[in-house]
Parts: sequence; structure tokens; C-alpha cells
Amino acid sequence: MPRSIQMAPSILSSDYLNLQSEIELLALSDEPPEWFHIDVMDGHFVPNLTIGPPFVRALKRITEVPLDVHVMIENPADQLDWYLDAGADTLTVHIESLRPGAAGGLGFSATLLDMSEEEIELGLALLQRIRAAGTLAGLSINPATPVKLLKPFYPHLDLVLLMSVHPGFGGQSIIEDSLDRLSEIRSEIDALGAPILLEIDGGIDVNTAPLAAKAGAEMLVAGNAIYGQPDPVAAMQAIRAAITKS
Ligand code: DX5
Ligand code: ZN
Repeated sequence: MPRSIQMAPSILSSDYLNLQSEIELLALSDEPPEWFHIDVMDGHFVPNLTIGPPFVRALKRITEVPLDVHVMIENPADQLDWYLDAGADTLTVHIESLRPGAAGGLGFSATLLDMSEEEIELGLALLQRIRAAGTLAGLSINPATPVKLLKPFYPHLDLVLLMSVHPGFGGQSIIEDSLDRLSEIRSEIDALGAPILLEIDGGIDVNTAPLAAKAGAEMLVAGNAIYGQPDPVAAMQAIRAAITKS
């Protein structure tokens, strides 16, 4: 039985000056997305600066589609509550950001090769805080960080977001070994029987979406392949159709 696929268009590729109509275009279409993916970048953890809590709050007011909030920020513990209060429906922090001062992003993507007990404890505490707010708790992992580092977190996770490009910018091509990494995480989740959503983010389009779905992803983020297209509604439909056909 194929897994049902949830689409999460990334507003990073939308027209920020017309965000309300960009949101409504998809949200009010015949087949609305299951989520909107919101990329929060702080200009430190990644070399790009996007949106903050007031923006998330404003988006929450204009759509009933749940907000999938991906925070690419340093020291997430300091700012977590802002996004929870703003109405995030999922809140995903980077495993690499559990190391204080870690920098990520294009060209200098943060990689974690091991974790200290303190870093694991910090991660578990963050996930607990997110869940306590009634929000789905996620961890995101960069392309070069070993997936085995996720292990201690699985029982406390609602979502794993695999970065299939270096975080910071939309419109990049998928990094080749991402699908193998996705399958590896899928096997771990299945072996545990844990109800964890598996999400892939970066370089997902009409060609790569069916491959990601086959490798076990159930939430697909797509920025350029939806909002970067002249007709985002048709583009999202085409991705769904490509998955169904494969
Ligand atoms: C990149 C962001 C992505 C981005 C994906 O750091 O996390 O969500 O919007 O963009 P595409 O789908 O264009 O690769
Ligand atoms: Zn993202």
C-alpha cells in the first residue's frame, strides 16, 4: 500500500510582496497542500535571512492550512517559544544547531560527526518543549551529518526533515546520496514502529518527487518546483500526478 504523500510548498520561492495571494492561490485550489513550509533563516546558522515570528503569526491568520516551520537558526532554545506562540503546527530545529555557535548553509554547511551528552540532553529538552505546546516536534539533518546521530531522539520525535541540499537557498539540485540517506532513516523509523513523519527538503520536483516517495518520504517540500513556476497550482498537481503514476 503506497504511503499517502503530503505536499509542503515552500514559500521561500513565492513572491513575498504578494504573500497573501500566493498562499490563497494554493490554499483555495481544488487540491490544497497539506502544509505550507516556512523557512526561518537567521543569517548566522545559514547565510540568508528570511522571516521571523510576526510573519508566522500573520500567515497563521490568513490560512487554515497547517504551517510547517523549519528553523535554521543558532541557539534555537532562545527563540523556540516565539514560533510556538506564533502558531507553528510543526517546529523543526537543526540537529547541528544543538552545538552552540555551529554555522550551516551553502558553502559552510554545518556538520556534526558526534554529539556530547549535553547536546543530546539539550535536544531532548527542546523536543519536549515543542510537544508540550501541542506542536509536532521535528529534527532536521544536514547533508553531511551522519543519520545515526538521530538515534537517541526517535522516541521523542514527530518528524524528521532530511535536507537534500545545503540549507540557505531555494532552487538547488538534490544532492545525490540523499535518497539513500532517506531510505536509511525510513528503515530506522519502521524498525521502531514509530509514527514519525519523514520529510525531504531541497531539489524536489516532478522528477525527484517520485524517487523520494519510493525511498520513504511522506512529506515533500518543494519551493522552486511550485512557487518558482508560472502556474503553481498546475505545478503542484503535476508533482502529485508524477508520484501517483510511478
Ligand atoms: C532551503 C530550504 C528549503 C527551500 C527548498 O534551505 O530549507 O525549504 O525552500 O527549495 P527548493 O524546493 O527550491 O529546493
Ligand atoms: Zn526548509
